[in-house]
Amino acid sequence: MNNFEYYNPVNIVFGKGQIKKLKDLIPRGEKILITYGGGSIKRNGVYDQVIEALSDHDFIEFGGIEANPQYETLMSACELAKKEQISFLLAVGGGSVIDGTKFIAVAMHHSDDPWKILSQRQSIQGATPLGSVLTLPATGSEMNTGSVVSRGKEKLGCFGDPRMYPKFSILDPEVTYSLPERQLGNGIVDSYVHVLEQYLTKDVNSPLQDRMAESILKTLIEEGPKVIHVKDDYASRANFMWCATMALNGLIGSGVIHDWATHMIGHEITAFHGVDHGRTLALVMPSLLRVQKEKKQNKLLQYADRVWNLSNGTPDERIEQAIILTEDFFNSLGVPTKLRAYNIKEEDINTIVESVRSHIPVNLGENGDIDGEKIKTILMQAL
Ligand code: NZQ
Ligand code: ZN
Repeated sequence: MNNFEYYNPVNIVFGKGQIKKLKDLIPRGEKILITYGGGSIKRNGVYDQVIEALSDHDFIEFGGIEANPQYETLMSACELAKKEQISFLLAVGGGSVIDGTKFIAVAMHHSDDPWKILSQRQSIQGATPLGSVLTLPATGSEMNTGSVVSRGKEKLGCFGDPRMYPKFSILDPEVTYSLPERQLGNGIVDSYVHVLEQYLTKDVNSPLQDRMAESILKTLIEEGPKVIHVKDDYASRANFMWCATMALNGLIGSGVIHDWATHMIGHEITAFHGVDHGRTLALVMPSLLRVQKEKKQNKLLQYADRVWNLSNGTPDERIEQAIILTEDFFNSLGVPTKLRAYNIKEEDINTIVESVRSHIPVNLGENGDIDGEKIKTILMQAL
């Protein structure tokens, strides 16, 4: 196992009816900015629960944070927060609202252009404390330091500064009942691929991390169909929600080697073709696994055996079968695995490849061997 430090201070408040605890989670005396997206929280009752819980607090609101949050919108929120001397930010929404709110939190303290935190990897200079009420299990943003922000055709992320951890995140599985099937499918695939990107790499003798990763994958495979097909099923929503958080809160990724090439390529597909984040991963991952199957052979065989119970056939056959079952799983959730589903064609591929290379000038993947040519091969095979 590799050396690591694991520090995660997020207070997770999980379960039915927990939103009312907001009144004690945020100290009285804070001046709060509540941030949210396009209005789903007003239709599903989450907004009313938040406002009721904060009835004795001092707060203002900023709505309209888009899916794949836009820099300009976040900077408007930042200006408002500075003008109103906000001391606490409360994000109520999915990954986009939480990521966007983390960006507002750091932009408020940045003396240079805050975009440079993403484009030039400038260190942050401070962060206003934030908390979250999660409404869409998918990204893990509620328990990690990540923030992905878009500006035109640029979609960039920053990860790793502990000041960007939420102070708390409320996870009430009942708030997911209003999610459309498409977002549920996106969230399951996103969580699944977060695990694969930290697990299907090189063996560093980390059996605990491996088994935790496999447990999340197997739980998603078991619960996913119930999440999609059984209406308002609390148990499956709760299990899915906790899987999504555990998939990207740093725990299974400690001491092991990561990949993240699928995410880096996927971000460009969102930027150029507007495909939802989770759906881009289903397009890239199976193809990437086929292209990289020799380097990933040991872990792919372990995945085939332990997650999909495949023990017959040659190693190559077992690996191919595991990839096919992964694709079938994504497709069963209503998430396509081929670029043609979004009308993305061969002539679109070079732009995606060039944009990945311009944002990340080094090769991708755990072996640093995914160069422009390989990205092109991965995408061509996903057509
Ligand atoms: O905007 P509203 O009206 O709230 O609607 C949202 C949005 O349209 C809707 N929604 C959310 N909760 C709902 C709901 N609709 C009904 N009922 C509810 N309970 O769902 C739509 C999508 O929301 P969004 O927040 O965009 O989705 P997601 O959580 O998948 O977040 C995607 C963003 O997170 C980034 C992605 O790149 C993308 O920008 N990621 C962040 C990561 C991180 N912080 O660690 C890692 C991920 O890999 C990812 O890159
Ligand atoms: Zn993701």
